[in-house]
Amino acid sequence: MEVRKAASTDVESMQQLIQQFADVGLMLPRTIKSLCEHLQCFTVAVEDGQVIGVAGLHVLWKDLAEIRSLAVAPHVHGKGVGRKVVEHLIREAEHLGIPQVLSLTYQTGFFEKLNFHVIRKESLPHKVWKDCFYCKKFYHCDEVAMVYYTQHYEAFQAFKEAR
Ligand SMILES: CC(C)(COP(=O)(O)OP(=O)(O)OC[C@H]1O[C@@H](n2cnc3c(N)ncnc32)[C@H](O)[C@@H]1OP(=O)(O)O)[C@@H](O)C(=O)NCCC(=O)NCCS
Repeated sequence: MEVRKAASTDVESMQQLIQQFADVGLMLPRTIKSLCEHLQCFTVAVEDGQVIGVAGLHVLWKDLAEIRSLAVAPHVHGKGVGRKVVEHLIREAEHLGIPQVLSLTYQTGFFEKLNFHVIRKESLPHKVWKDCFYCKKFYHCDEVAMVYYTQHYEAFQAFKEAR
């Protein structure tokens, strides 16, 4: 299996993978247009030429990036694909100097395994909720906010406290 940045030739498969989970309310759908516009954000896992995993890292602010549209093909669930995709995105966030990586999710057990911690949704900045505006559950959101603290977190906290 190869985990790499997405290319334009992956877009159709990415959209189909995401759509099957969007259909059962596990995540927001993504249009081809939206995937193309944010293509640089996306990472895919590929096996035998097939896209079997996808997720995007969206930088929201200097100190915060969000993992969105994480989906792994059902026939390879539980085989480490999701972990590899998320670890790839965490490395990307670290490379960008970002101290916190957020996920809004129902998959708390999965993210706990990857050292994400539950935080209060109320503590998040408003720009996090931009896409939520299009969600049916906007007024009764039951997703859990979880954060991974990267290697830059301590320095970021020290900087904040010194100001
Ligand atoms: C959640 C999802 C991405 C996990 O991907 P995956 O490839 O099956 O997960 P992995 O095999 O990499 O799992 C990594 C670890 O998390 C554990 N894990 C995976 N899913 C879990 C879950 N739902 N609850 C608890 N633990 C879970 C695995 O057992 C594994 O533990 P280990 O390292 O001790 O063996 C995948 O199930 C999926 O696509 N779900 C549907 C879409 C979705 O809900 N996306 C999340 C949107 S935020």
